[in-house]
Amino acid sequence: MLPQEIIRKKRDNEQLSLTEIQEFISGILNGKVSESHISAFTMAVFFNGMNTDECIALTEAMMNSGDVLNWNDLNGPVIDKHSTGGVGDKVSIMLSPIIASCGIYNPMISGRGLGHTGGTLDKLESIPGYNTTPNNLIFREIVKNVGCAIIGQTANLAPVDKVIYGVRDVTATVESIPLITASILSKKLSAGLNGLVMDIKLGNGAFATDITFANGVGKNIIQVANHFAMKTTALITDMNQPLGHSIGNALEIIEVIEYLNCTKINPRLHEVVMALSAEILLNSKIVNDKESGIQMANEALQNGKAGETFEKMVSELGGPNNILQNKISTFTNSPIIKPVKSDKTGVITKIDTRALGLAVVELGGGRKKTDDIINHSVGLTNVLGLGEKIINDQDLAIIHAQTEDQFKQAEKIIQNAYNISDVDIVSTPTIIEYLD
Ligand code: URA
Repeated sequence: MLPQEIIRKKRDNEQLSLTEIQEFISGILNGKVSESHISAFTMAVFFNGMNTDECIALTEAMMNSGDVLNWNDLNGPVIDKHSTGGVGDKVSIMLSPIIASCGIYNPMISGRGLGHTGGTLDKLESIPGYNTTPNNLIFREIVKNVGCAIIGQTANLAPVDKVIYGVRDVTATVESIPLITASILSKKLSAGLNGLVMDIKLGNGAFATDITFANGVGKNIIQVANHFAMKTTALITDMNQPLGHSIGNALEIIEVIEYLNCTKINPRLHEVVMALSAEILLNSKIVNDKESGIQMANEALQNGKAGETFEKMVSELGGPNNILQNKISTFTNSPIIKPVKSDKTGVITKIDTRALGLAVVELGGGRKKTDDIINHSVGLTNVLGLGEKIINDQDLAIIHAQTEDQFKQAEKIIQNAYNISDVDIVSTPTIIEYLD
């Protein structure tokens, strides 16, 4: 079948058959479907949507475009968490060793930063020696022995997603519920998981900026995942301010280390880590209710088991031994470390979170083009959050920059990103909704 006929059908809001969807996806692999076809197809889906049958067919075809792993040799639940992406979101790196310490196997296949959002993989690559592309045998051994391994998409997992996502990213077709569902689930299903917990970010630092859309994404993902017997639940969490007090690759790993050492714990970040960990423990039936899940996760954090697991994972993947004890010598500082000051007195009532993410991209901590090399040491620390009181000339954040020009550019963006007013604001919840 000609790709343009499939596109025409979707353009005219007709339902695609399983065969048409399979042919379109295999055409991407064998070169019969070009990037122009993909961009027209994704735009047609963006406007006309897909029903559940079509979305299941698309997910399955994308999953089968590469290898599908299985973990039958492991004696325990294999569960993962996936975030739709935010600013300062280092939850995965904290949560993975916590849940592994509680008896979950967590083979986590992560992505790079996209636009204004950071990527788990970029953050981990700031650890000297950490190999995000181990071969399959090593990956399996580490998951088996340590309980978790966070790596990049090395294996040939859902390879067409990479192609389709690349086109969506530059054709304004990311915000489509069926395309998001198929993209996320094809990767998670090919990773051979028993269960999944989604963290759907909502707010001005996320791609979902309204609750109806975030709800639609969550519900569709749960419905399609259930069809494949991958038990899935979702949390909608706040992204109207950065998560944690740092943004930038190595700086966020330092925040992870401080968290796992229990020396500096950001309350909002902790709440998200605990809620998602509890949801995973509940999904696997290791606990029977959320409260017990939070208690178990908290214990693993406080008694140092999660920290030990993190250290093991890092050293098995080629990073330093005892990273929790040696954080100072592990990372290189940026040459310029200076504060950005407030020019007003009052309460922080609004933060343009996306702008803060873009400030880090301008500093060189993210990519403007897919092949850009990023600077791991730059970013922001001591970032103030919503509702905090500030006086004129007080620090809004500390900028870690490579050059004075980049510092000045970031300084301007950050000052404009903060709204400071003399009226107080009502605090909003960090965990907005549970979907199951
Ligand atoms: N994350 C993904 O992996 N895919 C999407 O489409 C959106 C977020």
